[in-house]
Amino acid sequence: MIVIQGLTMPLTILDFFLKLTQFDFRILSVIEVLMAKYEFVPTEEIATYLHYNEKKIQAALTRLRGYKLVFLVQRHYSGTALTFIGYDALALKALVEKGVIAQIGPEIGAGKESDLRLAVNDEGSEFIIKMHRLGKLDFRATKKARAFLAEKRHISPLYESRLSAEREFEALNELFRAGVSVPKPIAQNRHIVAMHVVTGQDLYRIKKSEFETEDDILTLFDNILNELEKAVKHGYIHGDLSEYNIRLNEDDYPVFFDWPQYIKTESNQAKLILTRDVNNILNYFKKKFQLNLKINIEELILKYLDINIL
Ligand SMILES: Nc1ncnc2c1ncn2[C@@H]1O[C@H](COP(=O)(O)OP(=O)(O)OP(=O)(O)O)[C@@H](O)[C@H]1O
Ligand SMILES: [Mg+2]
Repeated sequence: MIVIQGLTMPLTILDFFLKLTQFDFRILSVIEVLMAKYEFVPTEEIATYLHYNEKKIQAALTRLRGYKLVFLVQRHYSGTALTFIGYDALALKALVEKGVIAQIGPEIGAGKESDLRLAVNDEGSEFIIKMHRLGKLDFRATKKARAFLAEKRHISPLYESRLSAEREFEALNELFRAGVSVPKPIAQNRHIVAMHVVTGQDLYRIKKSEFETEDDILTLFDNILNELEKAVKHGYIHGDLSEYNIRLNEDDYPVFFDWPQYIKTESNQAKLILTRDVNNILNYFKKKFQLNLKINIEELILKYLDINIL
C-alpha cells in the first residue's frame, strides 16, 4: 500500500488510491507495458506475464474497472486498457516513491488539455502537479481491438500526454536554467509535471483599474517583451503565448507557463509562430488598455532566427 496521509478530500484519483494493493499496481504496470503492443491487452497475456491464472487476473481487473482505472472490452477476446485515472495512479505512485509527493490536494483548475492539482511534499511545501490529458479516451468509438503500434499514425492519448509532459518539463528546465521567468520545474513522471506554484493572478483577469499609471502598464509590456526575447534568445518560441498563459507574480512580474507546444527557433515555422505570439500580446494591450504599442518583430527575427529558413 502507498501511504499518503491526511487525505480527507473526496478526490476521484484518491478515493481508491489507498485501497490499491501492490498486486493491483503490478497489474496496472503490466497493462501499461503491454499497451505498447496492444490497444486492448488480452487478459491471457497479463496472466502469462504475471504467472497467475486468468480467473484471478479477471477478478482483479473487474475491481480495477470499478475504480475506473481500466476499460474492459469483450471482443473476440477479453481486453483491457488503462484509463487516464489508471495512468494517474501509476504516475502518482512513482512520484510518491521518489519522495516528490507526500500528499495531494484539491484540484485548482482544469485547462483544455490538463488537470491541475495542488500537492505537498514531506516538508509541507505546496507545489502544482499538471496532469496532461491529450486526445480522447473513448473506446466505445473503437470498432475493433487491434495491435496498433505497427500502424505508425495511431498514437495513443496516454502516450501523447506523456510526450506533452516531457516536452513541457524539458522546456521549463532549459528556460528556468537560462533565467527566463517560468515556474520552477520539480519533477516529471509519465504525463505529470510537478512545478512550483506561481502565486499571483492570471494576466487575463487583471483590470485596467489595478494599474495606477500608464507607465505601470508600459512597464508590464516591457517586462513581457523582455521575457519573450530571453526565451527566443535561448531557442524557444512559446507557441501559445497570450494573456491566458501569463501570470503576474506577487511583484507583478510576468511568468510564462504552458509550454508543451513550444517550437525551437531553428524550426521552419519559427517566423510564423513568433509573429503570432507577438501579435497576441499586442492585441491584448490594445483590447484591454487601448494602447497601440509596437514591437520591432523584424529585428527579433533577424537577431535570433536561423537566417537560412527566412
Ligand atoms: N505553476 C503554476 N502556478 C500557479 N498557477 C498555475 C501554474 N501552472 C498553471 N497554472 C494555472 O492553471 C491554468 C492552466 O494551466 P496551463 O495553461 O498550463 O494548462 P492547459 O491545460 O495547457 O491550459 P489551456 O489548454 O486551457 O491553455 C493556468 O491558466 C493558470 O491559471
Ligand atoms: Mg494554458
